[in-house]
Amino acid sequence: MTIGIIGAMNEEIALLLEALTDKHEVQAAGTTYYTGILYGQNVVICKSGVGKVNAAVTTQVMIDRFDVGKVLFTGVAGAVDPELNIGDIVISSACLQHDMDVTPLGFKRGEIPYQEESIFAADPALVQLAQTVCESRFPGRYRTGIVLSGDQFIASRDKVRELHETFQGACTEMEGSAVAQTCARNSLPFVVIRSMSDRADGSADMNFAEFTVMASKHSHLIIQDMLQSM
Ligand code: ADE
Repeated sequence: MTIGIIGAMNEEIALLLEALTDKHEVQAAGTTYYTGILYGQNVVICKSGVGKVNAAVTTQVMIDRFDVGKVLFTGVAGAVDPELNIGDIVISSACLQHDMDVTPLGFKRGEIPYQEESIFAADPALVQLAQTVCESRFPGRYRTGIVLSGDQFIASRDKVRELHETFQGACTEMEGSAVAQTCARNSLPFVVIRSMSDRADGSADMNFAEFTVMASKHSHLIIQDMLQSM
């Protein structure tokens, strides 16, 4: 079975690509997909690009062209839960789109109109595996919670507080829920694993620039351990 691994930015997949053996490149829909063996598993890796559309398209291509059986999304995020520190990890229990807003028509914030599901649950076995790995690599520095996605870089204390109060989210980023929704439509298991590069507040832009490489290293170690335990 091939495992799909997606990150949004170069930093988020660079370490994975360095470790990939038997590497082949395939171009599809404007993205390079790298197939090969990573830590003993058949994988396909890609950089989705930023945002929900890019994430959904690349996930669907992985499913259609590379027949992936599960999808891991890795990268950085802004902490929404005030107890999280930069460098800490969030494992998705579920993902939702915080910028889906059809409230004028009577729908709830984050609710996708006219469909059953708006909160996409991650695969329990993948969540459990990620938790086991984090418990040994980063004890006390991870939590399992809701990943909020939107096509917005959040950099305001008021906005991040509002996201926490409205959705009880753990972190915010720009792709996870699109991956989750695409996997749900295809009945495929997924998990999103994010390391905190910032607190989505007034310092988020500076922190993001400073801490993305360190946070990406944390995500890489978790993916490495997960693949080795599968
Ligand atoms: N990814 C990393 N930090 C983020 C933030 N503050 N908002 C959205 N996506 C992010």
